[in-house]
Amino acid sequence: MKNLSRASAPAKAILFGEHFVVHGKPAIVMAINLRAYATAKPESGGKIIIESKSMRAFGSFTVDGAYQPILGGLEVWEKLLPIYVAARKIMSLADENNVGVRIEVESSIPIAAGLGSSAAVSVASAAAVGRLLELNISGDDIFRVALEAERTVHENPSGVDPAISTYGGLIIYHRGEGIRRLDAGVDLPLVVGDTCIKRVTGEMVLRVSEVRKRYPDVIDRIMDSGEAIVKMGAKALQSGDLKAIGDLMNINHALLCALGVSNEMIDRLVYAARNAGALGAKLTGAGGGGCIIALPPPGKDNRIVEAIEGAGGRAFTTCMSREGVRIEEQ
Ligand code: PMV
Repeated sequence: MKNLSRASAPAKAILFGEHFVVHGKPAIVMAINLRAYATAKPESGGKIIIESKSMRAFGSFTVDGAYQPILGGLEVWEKLLPIYVAARKIMSLADENNVGVRIEVESSIPIAAGLGSSAAVSVASAAAVGRLLELNISGDDIFRVALEAERTVHENPSGVDPAISTYGGLIIYHRGEGIRRLDAGVDLPLVVGDTCIKRVTGEMVLRVSEVRKRYPDVIDRIMDSGEAIVKMGAKALQSGDLKAIGDLMNINHALLCALGVSNEMIDRLVYAARNAGALGAKLTGAGGGGCIIALPPPGKDNRIVEAIEGAGGRAFTTCMSREGVRIEEQ
């Protein structure tokens, strides 16, 4: 076992197809240049001790999962659980018994905002623990473990978040079928606008499932349109057709509104971005709050950042991270 290891994994923005991807449709997703970092060290007594400064959570798990808070009380257990699951699954691949680990997580990714913070943390933690234990684990192993961890966050994850955090770049993700890499014919700077409204992904996913159950003929047509957007979006991205990418983002947003996952604040930021010249703008992730993304015309991102902030959001420009999970220190 090593004395220390450190790994990182990127956040993501879903360009097209969130929610539809839960129901078996493809989605296009891009890793962005915000990262979560996990540092792993050996710990005596077989415990898994996890500290996350950004979540203000610090606690200790036994190998069997019994939780003891160190800081933040019992209620932060839920926040640390995916990290525990990721670490535990990786540890079960090691021959050594009674090994313990201490994991420290730092992240600049806004939490519960649709940017895949929890998956990035799980992916980075799995990689750091694997490296600490000197295991020869592949990207596919890390993805599988992080998907298990994601199941503690919400019941029915498509896997898109752990996939993009693991593999990085720009991908088409199809549940059960894995990933296909896309080469964008253009640089894709995006403006992210955060409503600063926290929401629970699982609740939004459930809401869509319920509306689909009530109105299957209507919602299935919407999902088919989502699939068509992904097909056309892939072509537009490959040929660098910014106008088409923007138009398809706008149409995708309208479909998400129809599913009931947008709200007044999201729409306010989306319209502020469009009125400031964005070629397209849509919510990204589960909706109900969280973030929007806007596609600026080349060199015009500042105007859009200002417009989103003027409308009450927090905004920043981001771009693609080609690298997925990465070992920082071994
Ligand atoms: O947790 P978020 O907001 O990054 O959203 C994940 C994307 C969904 O399609 C809504 C859920 C999923 O598991 O794919």
